[in-house]
Amino acid sequence: MLVSAKEMLTKAKAGHYAVGQFNINNLEWTKAALQTAQECNSPIILGVSEGAGKYMCGFKTVADMVKAMIDELKITVPVALHLDHGSYEGCYKCIEAGFSSIMFDGSHYPIDENVAKTTELVKVCAEKGLSLEAEVGSIGGEEDGVVGMGECADPNECKMIADLGVDMLAAGIGNIHGKYPANWQGLSFETLAAVSEKTGDMPLVLHGGTGIPADMIKKAISLGVSKINVNTECQLAFQEATRAYIEAGKDLQGKGFDPRKLLAPGVEAIKATIKEKMELFGSINKA
Ligand code: 13P
Repeated sequence: MLVSAKEMLTKAKAGHYAVGQFNINNLEWTKAALQTAQECNSPIILGVSEGAGKYMCGFKTVADMVKAMIDELKITVPVALHLDHGSYEGCYKCIEAGFSSIMFDGSHYPIDENVAKTTELVKVCAEKGLSLEAEVGSIGGEEDGVVGMGECADPNECKMIADLGVDMLAAGIGNIHGKYPANWQGLSFETLAAVSEKTGDMPLVLHGGTGIPADMIKKAISLGVSKINVNTECQLAFQEATRAYIEAGKDLQGKGFDPRKLLAPGVEAIKATIKEKMELFGSINKA
């Protein structure tokens, strides 16, 4: 069964650890994430971007696949299925499809419009028992080959959005998606501390979890971050393991090409990456 992310994040905030959001891209990725969570006795949030949802034949296919896998693999740890950086329309599609959590990324709207749309979604999610993540201050990243620096959110705007009744808040603190550029300034703990002070018990979300040094992750958790998103690092681990396997010529041996064998090293690499992150975030044995 899928659960909303609310309870796991409230516990994480109180217990000073963070729950990982690991993005899924296909069946193997999903299975690897669920099995690792179960092995680690850790809660987990499966993130699905709109692009990944489209790739996997739509949000309903994803929700049905995840629910069936939870049954089939006898997963007993809490699992939330979460829309990552949802558009306004995408949020409604995921609510309909059976997701248990959504992120409405209204950070590119003027603050008034972000407030209006978030208010409406707070109501709908509360009625249906889903958890809702909002974002203030956009998270940078690579677009058309240019890496944008992460913005720092305005703590007063964060309070305004938090007070609408969302369950978790992503505040830009200089974090970006993908690899961090060599001249990255690091996370702005000054901004994080100010946001944390204004938003109290609200679980805060750190996007762009790939490549942030372990000491910064720990400091962010100590300042109220209770959910950390990781995507690129699993993709890189998968890519590297698959490439090594192919370069070793192993896929051409034996009975010929077998996609299950070809994907196996990548899957193991994803599992190892997720386990390492769960250890760093402190979520092991917190199910
Ligand atoms: P990375 O791809 O940098 O790990 O970020 C993931 C993320 O924040 C998804 O929302």
